[in-house]
Amino acid sequence: MSTDSLLNLIRDKRAVVGIIGQGYVGLPLALVFAEAGFTVVGFDLDSAKVDALNRGESYIKHIGTDRVARAVRGGKFRATTDFDELKACDAVLICVPTPLGQHREPDLSYVLDSAKAVAKRLRKGQLVVLESTTYPGTTDEDVLPVLEATGLKTPDDFLLAFSPEREDPGNAKFHTKIIPKVVGGVNQASTEAAVALYERAVDTVIPVSSSRVAESSKLLENIFRSVNIALVNELKMTFDRMGIDIWEVIEAAKTKPFGFTPFYPGPGLGGHCIPLDPFYLSWKAAEYGMWTRFIELAGEINTHMPGWVVDKTVKALNEEGKSAKGAKVLVLGLSYKEDIDDDRESPSYEIIELLQDAGATVSYCDPFFPAARRGRKHKLRMKSIPCTPEAFAGYDAVVLSTGHKLFRDPSLYANVPLLVDTRNAVKLGENMRTKLVRA
Ligand SMILES: NC(=O)c1ccc[n+]([C@@H]2O[C@H](COP(=O)([O-])OP(=O)(O)OC[C@H]3O[C@@H](n4cnc5c(N)ncnc54)[C@H](O)[C@@H]3O)[C@@H](O)[C@H]2O)c1
Repeated sequence: MSTDSLLNLIRDKRAVVGIIGQGYVGLPLALVFAEAGFTVVGFDLDSAKVDALNRGESYIKHIGTDRVARAVRGGKFRATTDFDELKACDAVLICVPTPLGQHREPDLSYVLDSAKAVAKRLRKGQLVVLESTTYPGTTDEDVLPVLEATGLKTPDDFLLAFSPEREDPGNAKFHTKIIPKVVGGVNQASTEAAVALYERAVDTVIPVSSSRVAESSKLLENIFRSVNIALVNELKMTFDRMGIDIWEVIEAAKTKPFGFTPFYPGPGLGGHCIPLDPFYLSWKAAEYGMWTRFIELAGEINTHMPGWVVDKTVKALNEEGKSAKGAKVLVLGLSYKEDIDDDRESPSYEIIELLQDAGATVSYCDPFFPAARRGRKHKLRMKSIPCTPEAFAGYDAVVLSTGHKLFRDPSLYANVPLLVDTRNAVKLGENMRTKLVRA
């Protein structure tokens, strides 16, 4: 089949869309294409996820089971672990993890494994799009050679583009269909085909001149967040020494109607994106003899945050006449942000471990995580305590690390002597005797 026939299939939505990786990014994308009228096949190595999807169930809290069930029942969506089915797909979108290795180097193994799986079944007239966040050059320097090793060449035989995912899990206002989608191909024909495909499923598509520009735009967005969060975290520590409340400062500053975007301090970065992606660029920049100092500095400040929170907790305990050694401390929240069930790279794990290192006996409470999962760096074997004032009583200190809505209820802290709030989440009642420390 030629690439012209591919465009015809895309135009009248007869193109079969395969999506490799059915996680936080791949699953909502699959649903958006299915809801737009395409037939979608979700590929994943995890057979438990594939089985759940085929039963019409979601395993991601903010993605409703009803949406998955509707797409499956309507015959528009199914999942498989059988990668031979890639042959039947006209477009293949790759949404697999891009973590960091032991020494903060990019780990492209998931992307390259997926590229090899596609290459094994590549046929004329297919469009391949990489969505995983990565450094500029991944699509044309790393993925393209794997696909062209088959003997097929772009643009005559197949098309290849990059389109960064901008998913914000749990954000009710901005979801996959309405978030504008940047698209850049390794050649003009690839850009055109990828734009044609996405235009039929999402509201706004922004073509750019190359896959490298598309890769770089995603990194700029994430580095912008990382650097600005580091800035407010540094200002938080500085203002804290001066006895000034950073949260009140931000509220005042954000009344400026132009030229200011508020960012908020916290206990450290979390999630699969902001703590990791900037280092994809610093790694690649070294190849060009460049040092990305803002990225390194932001990484240093943000990484220091859990330690700062623990120091504040230890000092506050000390002021109460208690030592960290032997203290009973409760950490609230394992998710990296409020009201989602994603704990990847969450600073809460480091806060728990640092408190344990200081000799405290630590528990946690997070209804999103009845038991702590094995993470990239942490292997805590703990279970959540109930979220009630009775369960919280008896702890010497409570450290609020994640601002889940249910932690904002002041009555939870009625019998807690010390609350360390890293999210400005709790307003205590005037008559409460709990000591509040913002960290
Ligand atoms: N989570 C977010 O909010 C977010 C936002 C924007 C961009 N991204 C980027 O999107 C990419 C995917 O992130 P995610 O959060 O969806 O990850 P995830 O871990 O939730 O999902 C990845 C899925 O891919 C599967 N998988 C791994 N290797 C595979 C392979 N070789 N073949 C088939 N399936 C495979 C895993 O089983 C998993 O289900 C990353 O590059 C990430 O940086 C994530």
